[in-house]
Amino acid sequence: MGSTSGRITRREFVAASAAGVVAGSLARATWAAGLEQSAARGPFRVIIDTDPGVDDALALLLAMRSPELKIEGITPVAGNVPLELTLPNALRMVEIAGRTDIPVAAGAKAPLVRRLITAAQVHGENGLGGAVFPEPTTKPIAEPAAEFIRNTVRKHPGEVTLITIGPLTNIATALNSDSELAGLVPRLVMMGGSLSGGNVTPAAEFNIYVDPEAARVVFQSGIPITMVGLDVTRKTSLTEDHVRTLQAGQNAVSQAAAKIARNAIDHTRAQGFLIGPNMHDSLALAAFLDPSILKWKEYYVDVETAGELTAGETVGYSPTAGDDQRRPELAKQAAMAMQIRGSAPTLASTKTSAIVRDKFVPNTNVAVDVDSARFFDLLIGRLAGKT
Ligand code: BDR
Ligand code: CA
Repeated sequence: MGSTSGRITRREFVAASAAGVVAGSLARATWAAGLEQSAARGPFRVIIDTDPGVDDALALLLAMRSPELKIEGITPVAGNVPLELTLPNALRMVEIAGRTDIPVAAGAKAPLVRRLITAAQVHGENGLGGAVFPEPTTKPIAEPAAEFIRNTVRKHPGEVTLITIGPLTNIATALNSDSELAGLVPRLVMMGGSLSGGNVTPAAEFNIYVDPEAARVVFQSGIPITMVGLDVTRKTSLTEDHVRTLQAGQNAVSQAAAKIARNAIDHTRAQGFLIGPNMHDSLALAAFLDPSILKWKEYYVDVETAGELTAGETVGYSPTAGDDQRRPELAKQAAMAMQIRGSAPTLASTKTSAIVRDKFVPNTNVAVDVDSARFFDLLIGRLAGKT
């Protein structure tokens, strides 16, 4: 995936980014470099932004069992359940993993401009599918999440990958507070969005639906984005076999993961679902740990924020997607010339469609397929302590 020919050094990336030119071919080069980089050993500095959440909880445990990661911090946000629950749930996970050295910084209680919509029906009232763990004794750090993100990225310019598995409110708040910050982030790997329909509305995936304005800030920021959306996370249903393997693991992480998984499956079956729940968020972690588990395609992705029915939809533009197939010798030329076009003009507005971008420059590597068996080998193997 990606060739090394366009590879740039971290120094070049940071220098160019600081000058505000993270765009076009430079940004494209960093996607390939980032994916290759994450396939190497690390450890790589990451911040995990999260709303635990059943699948968030297992993703956090996976992250803390992954030697490739140097987790600079965890930044809970309101999402699946309110912050009053996502924050202690994140603290519970660091305690279970014996990683209370990792700072946990409290994030936003509500989206940028909307009321909070939660997913307690999916994750249970406590966010962990009803699995009960003791109150955490570990406290969050004093710094709020957005400030923590900003300060950590500035402390290690060009080095801190943001892994986001919840609504993007904390990240957007950090970016809005510092116009140079985006240029210092080498990559953002998100569970979020979909190019094939949503799970809250027909158009929108939950993390983007909850805070579309924040998601738009992120997609338009210039940070190279890796999008692990419903297109692939729908293929990550947890099974009884997985639970049994976790139950057999003789360590605290495996036992806690088994308890959460057991409760989550029971909760899902009680609601009439025959399969699931999906391990959406762990797949985003796995995408960073081993991108070869997934197949990728470059898109320019933007977020619908104005739609009456479609707010939170991630719209992916590609000159090689859809019906618009051309003869190979014309395809490249057409791709270069392709404008990113918005809605048709109304009678009261301009005469032509809104042009969002003059030409096609991808901003996102979208996961389009996944080897589910390899993903679960990684997830369950690490949680159970086998790998
Ligand atoms: C996403 O929404 C949340 O419910 C999950 O934790 C995941 O991050 C899936 O749409
Ligand atoms: Ca989540």
